[in-house]
Amino acid sequence: MPRYTDASRERVRDAVDFAELVGARTELKPSGPRRLTGLCPFHDERTPSFGIDPVEKLYHCFGCGVGGDLFGFVMATEGVDFGEALELLADRSGVELERTSEDPGEAARRGRRERLLALLERTAAWYVRMLWESEEAAPARAYLAERGLQEESLRTFGVGYAPSAWDKVLVGSRRAGYSEDELLAAGLCLRGRSGGAYDRFRRRITFPLADERGRVVGFGARALGADQEPKYLNSAEGEIFHKRQQLYGLHLARTSAARAGRVVLCEGYTDVIALHQAGIENAIGVMGTAITEEHARTLSRRVAPTLLFCMDADAAGQAAIAKAAVALQRDRQGELLVVVMPAGADPADVVVKEGPDAIRRLLGAAVPYASFEVTRALQGADLGSLSGRERALEQASRVIGGLPEGVLREDLIRLVSDRIAVSPQLVASAAAGASGQTNGAGDARGRGRTTGSSSGALSSGGARTVLDRREQAERAFLALCVALPEEGERQLAKADADTLFSAPRTRKAAGYLRGRLRSPAGELPRDDEELARLVAELVVRAAEMQASAQDIETEALQLELAHLERDIAAGRAAGDGGRVRELAGERQRVLDALRHRLH
Ligand code: CTP
Ligand code: MN
Repeated sequence: MPRYTDASRERVRDAVDFAELVGARTELKPSGPRRLTGLCPFHDERTPSFGIDPVEKLYHCFGCGVGGDLFGFVMATEGVDFGEALELLADRSGVELERTSEDPGEAARRGRRERLLALLERTAAWYVRMLWESEEAAPARAYLAERGLQEESLRTFGVGYAPSAWDKVLVGSRRAGYSEDELLAAGLCLRGRSGGAYDRFRRRITFPLADERGRVVGFGARALGADQEPKYLNSAEGEIFHKRQQLYGLHLARTSAARAGRVVLCEGYTDVIALHQAGIENAIGVMGTAITEEHARTLSRRVAPTLLFCMDADAAGQAAIAKAAVALQRDRQGELLVVVMPAGADPADVVVKEGPDAIRRLLGAAVPYASFEVTRALQGADLGSLSGRERALEQASRVIGGLPEGVLREDLIRLVSDRIAVSPQLVASAAAGASGQTNGAGDARGRGRTTGSSSGALSSGGARTVLDRREQAERAFLALCVALPEEGERQLAKADADTLFSAPRTRKAAGYLRGRLRSPAGELPRDDEELARLVAELVVRAAEMQASAQDIETEALQLELAHLERDIAAGRAAGDGGRVRELAGERQRVLDALRHRLH
């Protein structure tokens, strides 16, 4: 990443409306002098334990322990690195980032990439004009209309038309100053046998494919005639386009998915556009049925905690779900649901033929992934034969075995016992056996279950460590210092951090905060996440406090008392009577001071 000056980074920090940025992902309500609280966008919860300080632009979740500054928030929610988060926020807030000196090789690579992206962008815009303005595109417009897609939604997605000529993009782009080499690298042209270049996309409807920031990186292009092969032609893999990473419409769905806490995964371009048109704006496409490792990684980087598969009701779609579930459950903690589509229909068909309410109903009736798997096992089996029933039992109990105790597990046990006509006890014990097998043999490293639901998952992953009482008191003291910076600075200046703070974490935070209490977020270290997180927590905590100088004094005395008691215990253990007496005298002094304050 290019390096930007600290000054321009700080301008971005100043310019961003943090409450609005976070507010796009979760609804925030005031809960203190300057704290806003809401449901945590990073884990599933029913009561809010997530808070931000809109002034310092820090966030913290008391439930799952995440936290950081505005850049960290964008890194976590958009799955980008620091540089990209900075660029993205600069983009959005209209701040120009200043580069520190850049090495020439790097500058050249960046320059080329930017030119290719600009070339793709202008070509996408030109295809859009062709679709709506050219005579030649009349059949394309008719086809899209017949598919029930309206102009407004098509424009939102930048759908266009590539005319049938061999050289329209080539000639137009050359005239605008782009080289043949750039056209090839951008995947817009191909080189013919004679060595000349020609347009890759011809007589096709173009669906621009964007990166997570919404910049066009390539196209998927649908044939119009039966004589054209393949039905969909994509940009070639190249410097800019990588199909494996592509999730169609993610840049448009992101905010809505984050807010709803769920994202709808379907197969095709038309599915995504039709769902958006029906008001389901958290839909994205995997462009076929293959969910790649890269997709899984993006989706597990918290696009949204709950994932709804809305694939076609054909064998390929169903198989895709099963395969995807394995990849997805490996590294994500959310819930997986499956939308049961009517046979032979894709989501676009449902929207167009039965209307928005029909698809909404289907989405609303989505079933947990485990139910889907169990149903599939039952449906696929020949329940008329003994061996068919055995196999169904075995398959179903493998799924059930991965589930935690609970209603879903019970329901599925009952379902299986009903359907294959055996006792629930048999299903339960088969399930227990199946889970024993996977945990013992298959999974020595304890990576955990491959099937199962989300409940209880949080306690293993994002869980915060339980703090001892002493560290809690130390944190409370530091939060008070942040809440009252003037008195806080006085306290921190006179405190001997090494003796006052028992935990290395709080000691380090105290060292960091000293002299910075008035703007604690400004210099959060990028390379010490623990410290950054703790500072964010203290600031968010402080934002809710109505504290007085006396509170800090009292808390400081408590810390001193705790420290003295520890020393006294150590002195006793060492048999050092003189030292113990001396410390006991001090303790009395602190106790008196405390008593005095409390009255
Ligand atoms: N796809 C692709 N390349 C192909 C075929 C399909 O990238 N050669 C992706 C496209 O994103 C397509 C999706 O897979 O939208 C689903 O394919 P399919 O069901 O065949 O097409 P639909 O989107 O349903 O398109 P249509 O209804 O226009 O046939
Ligand atoms: Mn389809």
